[in-house]
Amino acid sequence: MPAIESVLHERRVFPPSAAASANAAIFGMDAYRALVAEAERDYEGFWARLARETLEWRKPFSSVLDASDAPFYKWFADGELNVSYNCLDRQVQNGNAEKTAIIFEADDGAVTTVTYRELLQRVCEFANALRSRGVKKGERIVIYMPMSIEGIVAMQACARIGATHSVVFGGFSAKSLNERIADASAVAVITADEQMRGGRAIPLKNIADEALAMGGCDTVKDVIVYRRSGGKVAWNEARDLWWHELTENQPGTCEPEWVGAEHPLYILYTSGSTGKPKGVQHSSGGYLLWAALTMKWVFDLKPKDVFWCTADIGWVTGHTYIAYGPTAVGATQIMFEGTPTYPHAGRFWEMIGRHGVTVFYTAPTAIRSLIKLSAAEPRVQPKRFDLSSLRIIGTVGEPINPEAWIWYYENVGGGRCPVVDTWWQTETGGQMISPLPGATPLVPGSCTLPLPGIMATVVDDAGAEVPPGEGGMLVVKKPWPAMLRTIWGDPERFKRTYFPAELGGQVYLAGDGAVRDKDTGYFTIVGRIDDVLNVSGHRLGTMEIESALVANPDVAEAAAVGRPDETTGEAVVAFVVLKRKRPEGDEATQIADELRAWVAKEIGPFAKPKEIRFGENLPKTRSGKIMRRLLRSLAKGEAITQDVSTLENAAILDQLGESR
Ligand code: PRX
Repeated sequence: MPAIESVLHERRVFPPSAAASANAAIFGMDAYRALVAEAERDYEGFWARLARETLEWRKPFSSVLDASDAPFYKWFADGELNVSYNCLDRQVQNGNAEKTAIIFEADDGAVTTVTYRELLQRVCEFANALRSRGVKKGERIVIYMPMSIEGIVAMQACARIGATHSVVFGGFSAKSLNERIADASAVAVITADEQMRGGRAIPLKNIADEALAMGGCDTVKDVIVYRRSGGKVAWNEARDLWWHELTENQPGTCEPEWVGAEHPLYILYTSGSTGKPKGVQHSSGGYLLWAALTMKWVFDLKPKDVFWCTADIGWVTGHTYIAYGPTAVGATQIMFEGTPTYPHAGRFWEMIGRHGVTVFYTAPTAIRSLIKLSAAEPRVQPKRFDLSSLRIIGTVGEPINPEAWIWYYENVGGGRCPVVDTWWQTETGGQMISPLPGATPLVPGSCTLPLPGIMATVVDDAGAEVPPGEGGMLVVKKPWPAMLRTIWGDPERFKRTYFPAELGGQVYLAGDGAVRDKDTGYFTIVGRIDDVLNVSGHRLGTMEIESALVANPDVAEAAAVGRPDETTGEAVVAFVVLKRKRPEGDEATQIADELRAWVAKEIGPFAKPKEIRFGENLPKTRSGKIMRRLLRSLAKGEAITQDVSTLENAAILDQLGESR
């Protein structure tokens, strides 16, 4: 594990600014430490207090943490509530009925807004529509939607009737969608005719048709289609329903389904170290508690704030910080359909000015690509736009390099807005390690300290805590309310992956390497310790890419590894052995392009390898294991220092080392 000095080149400390600290939810490090101490003193009491203060319970809970079936922990298990009621009805009842809930900006710049009263009404209409189709509590619904108000309506409507949603990112291919529908045994799919991004239309309904035709989806009775663009779609009368027709005569009120706190709110598929994506299952009560609390703590959300999280609802960030968190605290939020570079690379900054955004949350990859583009084109530099409304800026999804942090802090935040670098995962449900804008002195490149109640630490291979300054594996020592509950349909994999016996079976293994600073205890994440890559903040399993490649009839063997990339954080380099002669020159270029397109079709365009290299073989150990460390060195263009004496054919190293 690299020492902290090698990852952190920036040692400046940025104290919380006066502007950010004023009236902050957690003001000053003493307030932070007091909460940490409260959790340490009485862990269950701490969470019980917060759960009572933050959520409205239909039936109060008496049990806080139930560890009787560990690691299948239960939180607030005998309490009952409804997530959509907590997010929407409460706002309407508490004086926010006419407050704008969502300001939606379309790809072409058209703006639509809804108030909390309207949003509740739409959710009720759609929830009634789902009930009219016979959808029952606990049944799964796959949502394959563009960024849209309807996307949030669909998610909240599922929550209202106790259906468990599984949102699939609109960039996934028909095959990936098919696998997710089949794994979840969904009874319905909600989609749109098309998705508009960067001036291009992506035919979601056609892709959904293709996915359903692949088999294994017999459980799907209805396909509900939101008309976004009016694009042409094929229609199956027996199965397809237009969203607008289905909701036309539905009542605008809908009695919520009161569910137990442990009821599965959603399943969200994410990549792991095998080829098969994992259906991460989240609860209702514990999850919503953390979505609401972190909105208050990390974003310090106040009634007048205009919040903008640029993630897609297809990823966990879009679940917690678009669909649920902002509504749970009654925020006004921006929702954006398009891309940061269309029609120009100043689109984010222009939108911040246009809508008076005060809290902005995006991915380091977006920042890095906008740094590059604004260097080339002064017209799109942040300083050309009015960013004076901003008060807190955040990042998520991948490590932010100190250079990008400083640029973001100075150019976007104007040197006055704290940068909250938030570490968390699909599995954690919400932010886990992050600065608090009114309390934590910031160090670029570090996500600083665990949030109160989160018992994160760094351990060695045997599970023993390592001293600060030494690298190790990031773990969480105690269960927390928003943690995943299981992997859908695979409880054994849940146990094995997250509570491995090698570490004693008691601590949650995050899958990231981390190191704590000797003086401050601050955490720096140094990247995944398993075969998971992070490309532009998108999580990808190397095995997934390899399975996709070997599914091609021409491919005999494939290995995929990550290589550091200036813009996307990591890039995929694939090493491929064809069933025929190793291609060279133009032929190699052409086959590499075909294979890249193949991976886009198998998984989705975001998974395309940046580079494909061909060899007559792959380097393997005597027992036949692919030497991945060696491939990683080759991908980076590093000199080979590993022992290669066991290699059958050393000439393949020259072949695989050739970058085209
Ligand atoms: O490696 C960590 C990285 O993203 C992984 C989680 O990916 P995913 O489940 O897709 O969720 C992304 C959005 C929460 C982590 O295991 N990661 C996430 N945030 C950070 C990060 N790495 C470094 N710094 C972060 N702030």
